[in-house]
This record gives sequence, C-alpha cells and structure tokens, in this order.
Amino acid sequence: MATIDASIATARPARRADWLGQSATFCYLAIAAGQLLFIAFILLFYYPPTLTGNFAAWNDKPLIIGFVAGDSAGNLFFAAHVLMAAVITFGGLVQLLPAIRNRWPALHRWNGRLYMLCALALALGGLWMTWGRGTWLALGGAIGITLDALLIIGFAVMTFGAARARRFADHRRWAIRLFAVASAVWFMRVGYMAWGLATGGAGIGEAMDGPFDLFLAFANSLLPLAVAEIYLRVGARGTAAARNRVAALLTFSGLVILAGSAGAWMVMWGPYI
Ligand code: HEM
Repeated sequence: MATIDASIATARPARRADWLGQSATFCYLAIAAGQLLFIAFILLFYYPPTLTGNFAAWNDKPLIIGFVAGDSAGNLFFAAHVLMAAVITFGGLVQLLPAIRNRWPALHRWNGRLYMLCALALALGGLWMTWGRGTWLALGGAIGITLDALLIIGFAVMTFGAARARRFADHRRWAIRLFAVASAVWFMRVGYMAWGLATGGAGIGEAMDGPFDLFLAFANSLLPLAVAEIYLRVGARGTAAARNRVAALLTFSGLVILAGSAGAWMVMWGPYI
C-alpha cells in the first residue's frame, strides 16, 4: 500500500518498508477518518443554508458569533469561511496521497493552488472574524488561533515558493508542515473530545479560559507541527531505535485521533445534522 511515509521519500534515501512507514500510514488513515467526519458535518450542516441564503440557520448550533441580522460583511465572511472549510479539509487529504501526485500531477498542481488559496483566505478571513468582528471568548484562545493563522500564511508562502523553484524535497517538507497547521482547527475539536474522554474535562473553563483551554489554544497547531517535524527529521536520518520511537508516537497519535474524532462526531457534529 502507498504510505504517507512515501510522500517524503525524496527527502531521504530509500529504505525498506518498516514500522515507521506503517505507523505513518495508520496515522494518515486516522486523520482522514476524522477529517471526513468534519467534512460531512460541514457539508450537511453549513452548505444547504449557506448556499440558499438562510444564514440564520447557522445559529441552530452554539457559536460565538454566527449569523447577526444587519451585519452583512460579518455574515459574508462567515459564509465564505465555512464553504472553504470543507474544500481545504478535503483538498489536504487528497494532496498528501502519493498515488495522486504520481499518477495525476496536473490534479496535484491545481488542487495545490486551490488549497493555498483557501489556506490564505481562511487565515486572513479568520483573523478578521477574530479581531475585526470580535469573535472570541478568551484572550488566550484568540492569540493561539492568531499564531495558527500566521503559521498557515508563512508555511503556504514557503510551500509555494519551493514548488516554483522546483526544490521538491523542500516543497514536500513545507507542505507537510502546512497540512499540520491548517488542520489545527479540526485538531482542536478532536483534542477537546479526546481530553474529555480521558479526564472528564479537567482544566476546561466555563468560557474556554481554563488551563487546558490555554494549552490547547497553542497546542492545536504546535503539537501536530512538532509531531510532523520529528517524523520528517527521524524519517530522513534517524537510527533504527529512533524510528521505532517515532513509530510508537504516530501509532499513539492515530489512536488518540480516532477516539477524539468519534467523540467529536457524537457530541459536536452528529447531533446538529
Ligand atoms: C484553515 C483551516 C480552517 C478551517 C477548516 C476552519 C473551519 C471553521 C468552521 C467549520 C467554522 C464554523 C464553526 C463550527 O461549526 O465549528 C469556523 C468558524 C470560525 N473560524 Fe475557522 N477554520 C479555519 C481557520 C481559521 C483561522 C486560522 C481562524 C482565525 C485566525 C479562524 C477563525 C474562525 C472564527 C472566529 C470562527 C467563528 C467561530 C464562532 O463564531 O463560534 N478559522 N471555522
């Protein structure tokens, strides 16, 4: 089976398939399962009312600021945001598949351009919703998501620049980093649910202002980024023992993602569709 490990194959010498490759594939499949549930929620809950102009239906689910009568700019930004959310999430999963890249390079290029466009628009639009529209509950959360937006913009520029310069090993490394931070808002939801299942919600505040909220506000982008970085480095030149440790980390991450995604579907997404 094509592994996600193969997606950085040009960044390191060829190696035999080992536990690291298999655990990376497992982790990718867990991410794909969780992100497909998120996409299903967006398509079923947000797409019908947004495409038919029934914006008020957004508020059938708890939001900080969803539809506000008379706020045309804010409502349009929100509409564009949720429409692009499904496109970027699906596009990222497709983009990481080595089989698609190898067999249909034109699809990879066009999907990549669309992905970058959505990444920039979601980050800039999200920044406006946060600071312009004032959509935040706790300052730590607002600063954390701002850091994520800046990382998305920075990594998108690096990914695109490396592709244009035909530095493909660099391009793949930046693309994996971009995928990690562009998945942060999904990871935050999965992280809340996994933590809730494990601890019953310790450290989560009434207004998302508890110690765990503050931790996850930054960890939602920095934790996946750290795991991606460790995987890239050890995959490229790690010893056998280091590769086994990273394989264990990826297997554990995949299991946490599966549990958190199932929880997110049962609590955050499924009940509203
Ligand atoms: C790049 C990937 C992103 C995706 C896939 C995404 C997805 C979503 C979705 C699905 C919603 C609807 C709320 C829900 O039902 O949970 C939403 C709302 C929102 N997003 Fe994003 N988003 C992304 C990036 C960002 C960024 C970088 C920021 C901030 C800088 C941001 C700020 C917001 C805000 C302020 C809301 C409104 C939340 C509310 O009113 O409760 N988003 N996003």
